[in-house]
Amino acid sequence: MIQIAILGLGTVGTGVARVVAENARQIERKLGEALQVKAVLVRHFKDGPYRQLMTDDFSKIEGDDEIRVVVETIGGVDAAYEYTKRALSAGKHVVTANKQLVAERGCELLALARRKNVSYLFEASVGGGIPVLHPLTQCMAANRIDEVCGILNGTTNYILTRMVRTGAFFSDALREAQAKGYAEADPTADVEGVDAGRKICILADLAFGRQTDPERVPMEGIGRLSLRDVKIAGRAGYRIKLLGRAVRLPGGGRTAYVAPHLIPEDHPMAGVEDVFNAVMIRGNATGDVMFYGRGAGELPTASACVADVMECLQASPKRDEIGWSPDAGGFEDPEKLKSRYYFRVEGSLTDAAMAFGQVEVLSEDGETAFLTDALSGAEAARQSRSLNVLARMRVLDSGSAGSGREA
Ligand code: HSE
Repeated sequence: MIQIAILGLGTVGTGVARVVAENARQIERKLGEALQVKAVLVRHFKDGPYRQLMTDDFSKIEGDDEIRVVVETIGGVDAAYEYTKRALSAGKHVVTANKQLVAERGCELLALARRKNVSYLFEASVGGGIPVLHPLTQCMAANRIDEVCGILNGTTNYILTRMVRTGAFFSDALREAQAKGYAEADPTADVEGVDAGRKICILADLAFGRQTDPERVPMEGIGRLSLRDVKIAGRAGYRIKLLGRAVRLPGGGRTAYVAPHLIPEDHPMAGVEDVFNAVMIRGNATGDVMFYGRGAGELPTASACVADVMECLQASPKRDEIGWSPDAGGFEDPEKLKSRYYFRVEGSLTDAAMAFGQVEVLSEDGETAFLTDALSGAEAARQSRSLNVLARMRVLDSGSAGSGREA
């Protein structure tokens, strides 16, 4: 019997316990031994099916030599960081879905795991149930990765889909996403782009092999998005999606950011709806590869955690192909990236044309909505200075992970 412990019993922790129990036979067949949850760390004891396993004392888990894997689902950094370090130092494998901890401290924790000859695996931290980190670091290992671009937050994609399809109010759609277990404990992390930002940092870390400091990654969410822009874009053949992008720049630099984008309807990511996420990775040998699936929720996220638990126990020698240097140098401002821009301004087409030259008009009714040619963010800001800008978004062009028009 292989014993594991779960830290935290929220949506993901409960899902891990359920998957271990409900899929016990498949797991045993693959591992050659049964897997059992021996302890669950909680702050407050609650009645329920796991009552007998609960403890509020981490040192009992840390000192229990029978426990070989710790699944950390506490979230946040403080306690999760301390317990992860202690579990790794005690020679236990650690598996997590905690994107904040991985984005901020993953490189250091991975190095500690290597020193202790155990694994630190975090597939569930990006894309919920979608396998994306393993394919990126293993199956695409022979590529130079040039770009990663994705719909990385299930809550905001669910909200946008509900607003567009059924005209739901933002607050109602958010409440539904919370009730379904998609949203973070503090949903402002979802709405303001921070959750997607942590995930694009992790993807950038693994794609480019260098630390991406989340503090330097601009993160804009859907909080300021207007239904008016969604409708104008829809009539012109575009969908609006919150995207995270990490791009290798000519000359060896790299950049990353999160922001709403207009996506042409024929782009594979335009049809990704509800809680679904999609990640496109552009390798120099593969071209674009796309991963799609449920990006949040109890069982999809737990599925990725339990698969990592099984991998820790099976890997011999342990998986060690993740190249991730603590060196954060070479990160550049995403404003340097070129793309077409969508603008909605208070004013006429003449005002728009005076600022940008020729533009593609999408709507004119007192306000003017239009698309520019490809510009850097800095150029777009400078040229629009004379205009009263009501909305501004990048356009993601068809046919590539990101904008094929980029410099
Ligand atoms: N709150 C996250 C989301 C959960 O909505 O995508 C999965 O990381």
